[in-house]
Amino acid sequence: MPHDFMPGLAGVPAAKSAVSDVDGERGVLVYRGIRVEELCASSSYLETAYLLLFGQLPNRDTFTRWQQDIMHHRRVKYSIVDLMKCLPEQGHPMDALQAAVAALGMFYPGRNVKDVENNYWSAVRLVAKLPTIVATWARLRHGNDAIPPRDDLGFSENFFYMLTETPPHPSWGEIFDDCLILHAEHTMNASTFTGLVTASTLADPYTVVASAIGALKGPLHGGANEEVVLMLKEIGTPERVPGYIDEHLKNKKKLMGFGHRVYKVKDPRAIILQRLCERLFHECGTSPLYDIAVKVEQAAEELLKGKGIYPNVDFYSGVIYDKMAIETDLFTPLFAMARVSGWLAHWLEQLRENKLFRPDQIYAGDHNRPYVPLDQRA
Ligand code: CMC
Repeated sequence: MPHDFMPGLAGVPAAKSAVSDVDGERGVLVYRGIRVEELCASSSYLETAYLLLFGQLPNRDTFTRWQQDIMHHRRVKYSIVDLMKCLPEQGHPMDALQAAVAALGMFYPGRNVKDVENNYWSAVRLVAKLPTIVATWARLRHGNDAIPPRDDLGFSENFFYMLTETPPHPSWGEIFDDCLILHAEHTMNASTFTGLVTASTLADPYTVVASAIGALKGPLHGGANEEVVLMLKEIGTPERVPGYIDEHLKNKKKLMGFGHRVYKVKDPRAIILQRLCERLFHECGTSPLYDIAVKVEQAAEELLKGKGIYPNVDFYSGVIYDKMAIETDLFTPLFAMARVSGWLAHWLEQLRENKLFRPDQIYAGDHNRPYVPLDQRA
């Protein structure tokens, strides 16, 4: 049956899903029917992760058990730490994360993805261990020892503790938790689709997540948050913004952190992240990068008027992380440690009615071409 070819599968449904939904015209994002604004105001990352994975907000008992299960699985085995010690310290943290997650699967070999109980524990391990892996790598590459998690700290506070050996400024845990909520899920994006393709082969969840991490790394997807801050630092001062943006767009270069396949208005996550920036700077002093970012948004609005290109989730998140003194190349790993709950929610959904992904192609090559022996080729 012939079909129209849609480059990038734009507008082609790849799955039926009840995990999240985007209204790109109105700028609305819901997880399991609940708006992200409401989740940021009232929920936590761990509760939101549970909602995404299992479809319901947990009751008190279930939530207590979920928190405890996560807490008990935050540590990573010495062998994983040793493996990371063997990686080149100048390597990108996304590569270290992908290698460590793939290796995790070798330590937890439950390959039968039809085993519901085993799948629960795989999800717990992955949600719990990704922050530990990110923080461990961030320390090892500078010659510092890994810091084990602290059981008296919440999910986000503990991440900062494992990174710096000090619990964060009181409001940072809350702001960072909201950032994780906003990055936890976003319908059929490139990394989720990658994870689903891997899942459809009935590969184990560690392989599913490792493949999704690979797709997230690219600058057109999660890698954009790192590029944004590098661009803001390159611009240097708010006064240099108009000239820089003008030149950039004249040279047909894309502005990182702008544009989206689905949103035709400002990404609702960018709106919340901008508010979080303002809260952070009100409490902890401003950041020069924020003034530049606001100017970039204004200049881009002027120059890209009518094209439906506005800041996306990657535009303001890096400004927050930079103020929290997190190294720029860790921004995409932070995205991954939040998005793992979305990837796994889609993985569980895929397993319920699995069909191997095996799309078609439109062949554009030759037929009946003769084989020319080596000594007769030009
Ligand atoms: N800056 C300037 N022009 C842009 C941008 C941008 N960021 N994004 C799209 N355009 C223009 C593009 O040049 C093209 O113009 P024309 O029709 O004149 O040739 C038109 O808009 C359509 O662009 P496209 O790349 O075909 O559209 P798409 O739906 O494939 O783009 C996108 C989606 C996210 C890949 C793109 O907007 C982009 O490359 N943005 C920059 C990278 C980025 O911020 N990525 C993060 C995406 S959101 C979070 C995430 O997934 O991690």
